[in-house]
Formats: sequence, structure tokens, C-alpha cells
Amino acid sequence: MSMTNPQGSESGRSNPGALSQFTGTVALVGAGRMGGAMLDGWIGLGVDPARIAVIEPQPAASIAALAGRGLRLNPDAASLRADAVVIAVKPQVAPDIMPNVAALVSPSTVVVSIMAGRTIGFLADALPRDAAIVRAMPNTPAAIGRGITVAVPNARVTPPQRRLADALLAATGAVEWVGDEALMDAVTAVSGSGPAYVFLLAESLARAGAKAGLPADLAARLARATVAGSGELLHRSPQDAATLRHNVTSPGGTTAAALDVLMAADGLDPLMERAVAAATRRGRALAG
Ligand SMILES: NC(=O)c1ccc[n+]([C@@H]2O[C@H](COP(=O)([O-])OP(=O)(O)OC[C@H]3O[C@@H](n4cnc5c(N)ncnc54)[C@H](OP(=O)(O)O)[C@@H]3O)[C@@H](O)[C@H]2O)c1
Repeated sequence: MSMTNPQGSESGRSNPGALSQFTGTVALVGAGRMGGAMLDGWIGLGVDPARIAVIEPQPAASIAALAGRGLRLNPDAASLRADAVVIAVKPQVAPDIMPNVAALVSPSTVVVSIMAGRTIGFLADALPRDAAIVRAMPNTPAAIGRGITVAVPNARVTPPQRRLADALLAATGAVEWVGDEALMDAVTAVSGSGPAYVFLLAESLARAGAKAGLPADLAARLARATVAGSGELLHRSPQDAATLRHNVTSPGGTTAAALDVLMAADGLDPLMERAVAAATRRGRALAG
């Protein structure tokens, strides 16, 4: 199903389409922004709403509407046999909801948590003994099906459970698997928090354009379209970022003049390194 690369991570062969054949039951606990995006993805991939249970105190109208197509909204835990339970509540709510999650878990259930900073150890302590657990970190482009999620399984996750978790997560974009949970703080610092860095790049480029004499609103439109278009180009191109950068940089030209500043010893690299290190440290501290 997936390939291992030299760094020990695994990627690339998710099969979200397999979900359309899904005949089990998935319970989603928390259907806010991220849980809602996953649910949209599952429905979009053809999962029968009758295969889904949602536990959510304030369901959006679209979720309530799915109840008319068979989705079970806030069912009694005793009436549910879930093959997968996806936890998508805020991390601070976790201690309150874990007893309810535990009630949904049978020996064959895989629990998939996307809660930032909540470790496999925390989850295992709150779940029945020997529970199969996947800890995952998605990011906000999940809302448009273009996210990337990094997942780490515990030793109890069987190959079919991992395939199910992979397909559920792949409904919102790409999925990477790692074997070492300690990497999750750095993952959070790169892809989890990363969209904010890219949005900041658009803001910063707009401010610099205004300083260079452009009307502020024009500078903002140029920066926005440049970041969005370059991201799309990177997404569609088989070439890596460095090659695409080389392709638009003539020796001695305007782009090269700017890159000389950005790629100087005190340029973007050391700044980004410090930013990612700060986020990694913060993730570690929050996880306790
Ligand atoms: N958003 C991101 O970019 C992102 C990225 C990576 C990871 N995550 C993780 O994803 C998780 C969800 O984030 P989010 O942005 O989707 O948050 P969110 O929009 O606040 O969604 C959380 C949902 O859980 C519901 N909830 C609260 N208490 C509940 C309970 N007892 N039982 C069932 N549902 C309950 C909330 O309902 P109420 O509104 O009524 O409280 C809300 O709808 C977080 O743990 C976060 O760390 C998010």
C-alpha cells in the first residue's frame, strides 16, 4: 500500500477511493472545521451516510441534513459498534470526551485522533487496554481537499486498520506515515503550522510592495495571486521547488537580486529554522 523512503517515512499510495466500498461503521467525535472537512471528504468519496455516526453537540445544518440520508447523529454509545473512531475535538476537551470515546471502542476498533499535542500515551491511558491507536496531524488545506496529514500508529494497529485509517485521512488530501511519534512535534511545526507561514509570506510581500511604492490594495492582490499561483504551480509540476525557482531566475536579473538578500547567511533559512524550532519546542511543551 505504501513505500518506505530512506528517512523512514512512508507516503504516496493512499487509496481514498477504497472508502466507497466501506461497509463498516465510522464514528466521528467532533464535527467542527477539521472533523467537518473529513466528513465532507468521506461523503464526497461516496461513503454511504448510514455508515457514519457523528457525535457533536452543535451539528452544522449540513450534518443534520445527512441524518435524513441515514447518518446517525449523537446515537447512544451502547448502540454503536465502530470499526473506526475519529477524534476531532479541541485538545483541551479531550479529558472530558475520552470516557465517551472509550465506550465506542471494541477490540476490533481503530481510534484515529487528530488532536494536536495529544499523545498516543494519553489516548492509550483513556482507552480500553491494547486499543489500536493512530495519532495524526492534518493541516488547514484539508478544507479544500488539499491538506497533508502525517500519521503514526501504535503497535496494536493491524494492516487492515492502518489501511482504513489511511483511507479516512486521505479524504482531505495526502497522507504520510511515520514510525516514530517523537517526530510529531516537528511535523506540527512544518505542515501543521506551515499554512500560517505561507499566509504571512503573502502579507509580508504585500507590505514590501507597498513600501516600494505600489498602492496597498494592488500590492495585496499581487502578493495573494503570486503565493496562490506559485503554490498551484508547485502542486502541479513534477519539478521540485528549487528547480522551479532556478527556472525563473536569470543570472544578474531582478529575481536574482532579491534572492541574494533572501538566501544570504542571515536570510530566510536561519529565520525559518528558528521559527520551526520555536514551534517544535512549543509543541513538546504543550504535549507535556
Ligand atoms: N484546524 C486545523 O487547522 C487543525 C490542524 C491540525 C490539527 N487540528 C486538530 O483538529 C482538532 C479539531 O480542530 P478544529 O479546528 O476542527 O476545532 P473546532 O472547529 O472547534 O471543532 C471541534 C468540534 O468538536 C465539538 N465538540 C466539543 N465538545 C464535544 C463533545 N463533548 N463531544 C463531541 N464533540 C464536541 C465542538 O463543538 P462546539 O463548537 O459546540 O464546542 C466543535 O464542533 C483539534 O484537536 C486540533 O488540534 C486542527
